[in-house]
Amino acid sequence: MNKCYHRELNILGIETSCDDTCAAVVCDGRKLLSNVVASQNDIHEKYGGVVPELASRRHIEMIDIIISEAMLQSGISLDDIGAVSVTSRPGLIGSLLVGVGAAKAIAYAKKIPLIAINHLKAHLFSNILINPDMGGGFIGLIVSGGHSSLYKVEQDWTITEIGHTVDDAAGEAFDKIARFLGLGYPGGPIIDRLAKQGDSKAVLMPRPMIESGDFNFSFSGLKTAVIYKVKKDPAIKKAENIADLAASFQEAIADVLVEKTVKACRKYGYSRILVSGGVAANSRIRQLFINRASIEGIELFIPPVYLCMDNAAMVACLGYHEYVAGNFASAGLDVYSRSDI
Ligand code: KG4
Ligand code: ZN
Repeated sequence: MNKCYHRELNILGIETSCDDTCAAVVCDGRKLLSNVVASQNDIHEKYGGVVPELASRRHIEMIDIIISEAMLQSGISLDDIGAVSVTSRPGLIGSLLVGVGAAKAIAYAKKIPLIAINHLKAHLFSNILINPDMGGGFIGLIVSGGHSSLYKVEQDWTITEIGHTVDDAAGEAFDKIARFLGLGYPGGPIIDRLAKQGDSKAVLMPRPMIESGDFNFSFSGLKTAVIYKVKKDPAIKKAENIADLAASFQEAIADVLVEKTVKACRKYGYSRILVSGGVAANSRIRQLFINRASIEGIELFIPPVYLCMDNAAMVACLGYHEYVAGNFASAGLDVYSRSDI
């Protein structure tokens, strides 16, 4: 990895909004010096979802270790860090507090600026680490365990939410269906793998809100449809059929995400799309976006999987842009469960 010794421009990013303890060092908002993620899947899998109290306790155990590891891997010392940027919203309050507490302590001890980061905005910036000169002027789709939102990102990076989920987020639907089918946690990667052997046309699934005329999403009805179909015909969850069920369910989510994002592009006059968030790791969703973008003449940006999933590299990357804009937080920085972009 490249090293960069301009003191002011190395940013330490810290991310603890949900169930991953993450720290990263990014130089000039574009050069990744280190990126460390400690997943908590082992403690949450038996519950089939994130247990907030357990998440914050694990963050407390891990935060110092992960920050030290990120510094070690970066090859520079804390004295070479010019600012600390940390996710302060949206997320689980107890989890956010751990990252923000650590960031405040480092900023205070090293007398460097503290920068507050909106996690969803950071997902929108994640691709800058791959295409450093990527400008604004696109429709952004952020799909994760907690969010399914569409954003209009103007040339100057002014961000406006144009749609969100009215119930379950896409990742939540993957996780709940995997849990219902007894497949494990997190459900997204498991269903993704299973669906590769299945026929996506085998089980007829609804495409909720695909024609709703707005840019909101709803995946709870799709979840109910799967549960209803399995109750009516238990054979479809048998080992020989379950890949078909997984593929059909996944295809419905992918169709809705692609269709509504393309419609948003048309409505707002953009010809560029960015997709990020944990669900953007899904191989079928990535493929459908690639196919459709090529048909529509749309330029598509989907970061590599390690930047789609929760990470602190995107937090440090956005931190650099906030630093340049002079957006610093005070030592009284608070945390918030809601996004408010
Ligand atoms: O962005 P993320 O890492 O954390 C949140 O902010 O929520 O997203 C986690 C979500 C989980 O619901 C997980 O099941 C889903 O992303 N996910 C996937 C895949 N990999 C992770 N969903 C579908 N297919 C995948 N390959
Ligand atoms: Zn996320």
